[in-house]
Amino acid sequence: MADTRNQRFWNRIAQRYAARPLKNVAAYEAMLADAAARLSPQDRVLEIGCGTGGTAIHLAGFVSEFVATDFSTEMVAIAKAKPAGDTLRFVVADAAQALADGPFDAICAFNVLHLVDDLPDTLSRIHQALVPGGQLISKTWCFADLNPGMRILFALLRTVGLFPRVTMLTETGLHQALRAAGFEIVDQRQFGTYPQNPYIVARKPAA
Ligand SMILES: C[S@@+](CC[C@H](N)C(=O)[O-])C[C@H]1O[C@@H](n2cnc3c(N)ncnc32)[C@H](O)[C@@H]1O
Repeated sequence: MADTRNQRFWNRIAQRYAARPLKNVAAYEAMLADAAARLSPQDRVLEIGCGTGGTAIHLAGFVSEFVATDFSTEMVAIAKAKPAGDTLRFVVADAAQALADGPFDAICAFNVLHLVDDLPDTLSRIHQALVPGGQLISKTWCFADLNPGMRILFALLRTVGLFPRVTMLTETGLHQALRAAGFEIVDQRQFGTYPQNPYIVARKPAA
């Protein structure tokens, strides 16, 4: 099947994305430590929108199976070229395809839920793909909570192909979407400078 416009965007910027320096190493490492602490050695974990794989390579060491997926062939090619342990597998798949391969004990979605075409549908698929009591560990941009200047800048960048199509979420809207899909929000933290990019852990209630 031909790549969508969104896939072409991420393929085009994959090398630049891989080369960008991490803005806040301490915040990223704190987020990794928090996510790792929520996983168990016997867990089967899915990551959607894994990008160039750094987070997956780290978290895979804490679980028995970690399937890291992304719909960009270029992102996954960069990820696959990195050394990784034997609990990790990288797969090219869009979120809907990847979620059909459940059940998973945990699903990670870092900086991707604002990018999917249909957030309610994706959250519902995540919910279905989790075991009862399973958790969604996520970090999501709530662009509608940014100041108007930033929003105008991103809209302009989008017109020249330097910014992807995004859902303009508010934090309140994101909470509502998670609850509407059947999740309980169990924790929310800020790792990094922006409160508009919350790290949220949500749980599918145990049966
Ligand atoms: C902002 S990057 C985040 C990458 C990584 N998770 C991180 O936090 O650095 C978004 C990633 O999601 C992927 N992506 C966007 N929409 C997707 C979808 N519908 N299904 C799968 N991957 C998607 C893109 O290809 C890109 O690699």
